[in-house]
Amino acid sequence: MTPNVTRRTLLRSIGVAGGAGVMFESMRALGLVASPEALATPDYQPPAPGDLPAGKRGKKVVILGAGMAGLVTAYELGKAGYDCTVLEAKDRVGGRNWTVRGGTTATDLDGTTQTARFAKDQYLNAGPARLPQSHITLDYCRELGVPLEIFVNQNANALIYNEQSGVAPQQYRTAKSDVYGYVSELLAKAIDQGALDQRMSSEDKDRLLTFLSGFGAIGDRASGYAYAGTSRRGYSVEPGAADQAGVVLGPPPALSSVLASQVGRYFSFEFGYDQAMTMLQPVGGMDAIPMALYRRLGNKVRLGAAVTKLTDGPRGVEVVYKDKRGKENVVRADYCVAALPPHVMARVPTNLDPKVTAALRYPVATPVGKIGLEYRRRWWEQDDRIYGGITETDMDLAHVWYPSYGFHGERGLVVGYYNTGANATTYGNLSPADRTTRAVAQGVKIHGEKYRTELANAFSVAWQKVPHIEGGWVSWPSRSSGEYTLLNQPAGRVYFAGDWLSYFIAWQAGAIDSARYAVTNLHKRVIAER
Ligand code: ALA
Repeated sequence: MTPNVTRRTLLRSIGVAGGAGVMFESMRALGLVASPEALATPDYQPPAPGDLPAGKRGKKVVILGAGMAGLVTAYELGKAGYDCTVLEAKDRVGGRNWTVRGGTTATDLDGTTQTARFAKDQYLNAGPARLPQSHITLDYCRELGVPLEIFVNQNANALIYNEQSGVAPQQYRTAKSDVYGYVSELLAKAIDQGALDQRMSSEDKDRLLTFLSGFGAIGDRASGYAYAGTSRRGYSVEPGAADQAGVVLGPPPALSSVLASQVGRYFSFEFGYDQAMTMLQPVGGMDAIPMALYRRLGNKVRLGAAVTKLTDGPRGVEVVYKDKRGKENVVRADYCVAALPPHVMARVPTNLDPKVTAALRYPVATPVGKIGLEYRRRWWEQDDRIYGGITETDMDLAHVWYPSYGFHGERGLVVGYYNTGANATTYGNLSPADRTTRAVAQGVKIHGEKYRTELANAFSVAWQKVPHIEGGWVSWPSRSSGEYTLLNQPAGRVYFAGDWLSYFIAWQAGAIDSARYAVTNLHKRVIAER
């Protein structure tokens, strides 16, 4: 018997004896379905006081940065009684996990200051804003008691607008109906005319034709597998009572026009492992996660503490930082976990091997921008029936996000641009007022004048200009040229942590898992040291 037959036979008998739940657990144990634990740090064990003899408890660890990696490092080490001090240059925790609310003030590296004037309960998640089901971030939300709600990442009523194609904005549902319909028609006709006979058995052809008939809503052989549009496109007159059958939106444009509109290029986004629904967000703002960690860490976190020097020695580390009043202070510790962005850490004077500093300079910071546009009325819900989700464009604003919170409330906040690279640089180099003007002018092309006239307030972030952060995330030109491996190891008594040291770049899960990795290695070292 092959191993599969053995498993199948075994599972069948387990299923008969124990029911579906037992069978599912058995499948998980056999590795046939992914278990949540298999998604990251599979063998992660939080450090526990019992791991250490009394003499080794309470080792001092200084942590640089109170972003997610730094906070999780302190939280996890704290479980085993390590004496952690977290130094954070900014006046808040969270790093890029930053929720902007009414009253939030921020000054960029170029000296520009903005103050958000959003109404109560309106907020912009300026950094991370969506959580996939697979990420360990959700496990921390559970452990920390951070309530979650749905984040709408795909919406059939959201729009696609490719300005360059000259085609008016259209709903995802319409675009998908036409693209899937025509692709199905073409493939079905090719199969039916024998074009794939070399590749397929007649049984397979029949099965694929059955699939295409449903997938593209193209009827059967009798109707020539012709795509003629369906109610999947939407209605120009909605169905209703009595004799109101509704009027299907149509007719669909010709195949060539659909291809020229290039709407299909956005469809694969929702297939992404990290971007598929269901997705989630903390109720009231993403910063609920760092705030929950901060509450548990209390006075272990020193805000307004900018690191100016790090010295690694045979028996410990010494970190000098400037406090809010500009006074220099020294923290001595057994170990350090440096959880700053690599390009920021690279500028801290240290006595570390120059190879380490060179490696820190190697990843390239990506410019990333976002703007929150607060509206006096939720016109996207009232007029356009758009409840959450994302409109895609080929304009330099890139994406428009509709809020996944506060449905049917009075006001609401639309993310008017979320862009990276050259587009983020373009916006970032404008004044905040000019960013708003540019984003609104582009939004008007999609939604009309109300996009301008109903605007109440705006607040934008250009991450490349945010002090102590200086980028949305980083990319590695190569992960195999040595730098990535070097920084995933301690440099003397200094460990590094951050999403940039993971395969989850630009996700909090990366920061969390990297923190766990540093914690695990540090803890093992303390257990082993004489
Ligand atoms: N993780 C980031 C996002 O989902 C890049 O937009």
